[in-house]
Amino acid sequence: MDSDRNNEFNGKVAIVTGGASGIGKASVAALLAHGAAVVAADLNPNVHQAFGDLPFDFGDRLRTCVVDVSDEADVEKMLATAIDAFGRIDIVVNNAGVGGAIGRIVDMDLADWRTTFAILVDGVFLGMKHAARHLAVQGDGGVIINMASIAGLNGGVGPLAYSAAKAAVINMTENAAVELAPHRIRVNAICPGAIQTPMLHAKGDPVAAKAIADIQPWPDAGRAEQVAELVLFLSSCRSEFITGQAHTIDGGLTAAGVRFRDLAPVGDRVGFIYGETGRPSKVRRVAAVLNKVS
Ligand code: NAI
Repeated sequence: MDSDRNNEFNGKVAIVTGGASGIGKASVAALLAHGAAVVAADLNPNVHQAFGDLPFDFGDRLRTCVVDVSDEADVEKMLATAIDAFGRIDIVVNNAGVGGAIGRIVDMDLADWRTTFAILVDGVFLGMKHAARHLAVQGDGGVIINMASIAGLNGGVGPLAYSAAKAAVINMTENAAVELAPHRIRVNAICPGAIQTPMLHAKGDPVAAKAIADIQPWPDAGRAEQVAELVLFLSSCRSEFITGQAHTIDGGLTAAGVRFRDLAPVGDRVGFIYGETGRPSKVRRVAAVLNKVS
C-alpha cells in the first residue's frame, strides 16, 4: 500500500451497501485501510461478523447494520447510523445487488422483475436521494458511487432484468450528477466486468473460476479488490473533476466486443482480405512473436 495514501480518508465517513461480501466488503476494507470511518450495511446479518479477519487495526472506525436497500425507512436508518456514530457523511457507495430474475422474457414473472428493480434500481435511487439530502445540508460536497455493470451497457451480457436495471443505474447516475454538481456532490457509476465474487460463482468452483478468468483478454480473473481501488479513487479528491460518468473496469472485456475473432481466429495469420472484389486475398501464417504471459 502506498504509505502517502494510508491516511487519505482520515476524518471522512463512508457508507457501503452490500458491504458483507464481494466488492462491497473489499470497498469497506479499502476505505478503512486508508483512514475512513465506515458503515457497512447489508441485508445479510453476516455483515456483523464480516470484518473480524482484516489484517490491520481500524480501531472504532467501523459500524455494521442490517438494511434492505429497497426499503426507504431502512435506508434512512442506515444514514442515521453513520451520523450517530461519526457525526457526518462524505461518501455513499450504493453497491448492494443480486442477480435477480433470470430466464426468458416469455417465462419471466412480473413479481421477479419487480423485485430485481426494487433492489437494483429503487435501492440506488433511495441511496442517492437520502445521501444527497444529507450532503447538501452539510454543505461541503460529497461523493456518491453507484455499482452498475457492463451488463447495463449492451445487450447480451447479463440477464434481461439485471441488465435493464443496471442501464437505469447508469442513467440515474448521469442525471443525479447534473442535479448535484452545484452542491459539489460528485456522482459516478462503476461498471465492473466479470469479478470473482460469490455473486458470479460459488467460491472454490474451479470450472466457474476458469470461465471467469478466461472471459476477458486480461490473463487473470477480475478481483473485488481491483474494483475497490476504483471506489477509492472516485471517492478521493484525486478525482475532483470527475462526475456523471460510468467507469468500466473489465480487463478489456467490452473492448473485445462481440469476439468475432474468437469464431474466426486470426492470431497466426497476417495479410489482407479482399473479399468479393475479385482480387486475391493475401494471407500467410506467421509464428507467434509474443508469448502469452503466464
Ligand atoms: P456479492 O453477492 O458478493 O455481494 C452483494 C451483497 O449485496 C451481498 O452481501 C448481499 O447480501 C447484499 N445485498 C443484496 N441485496 C441487498 C439488499 N436488498 N439490501 C442490502 N444488501 C443487499 O456480489 P458482488 O459481486 O460483490 O456485487 C456487488 C455489486 O457489483 C452488485 O451491485 C453487482 O450487481 C455488481 N457487479 C458485480 C459483478 C461481478 O462480476 N461480481 C459485475 C458487475 C457488477
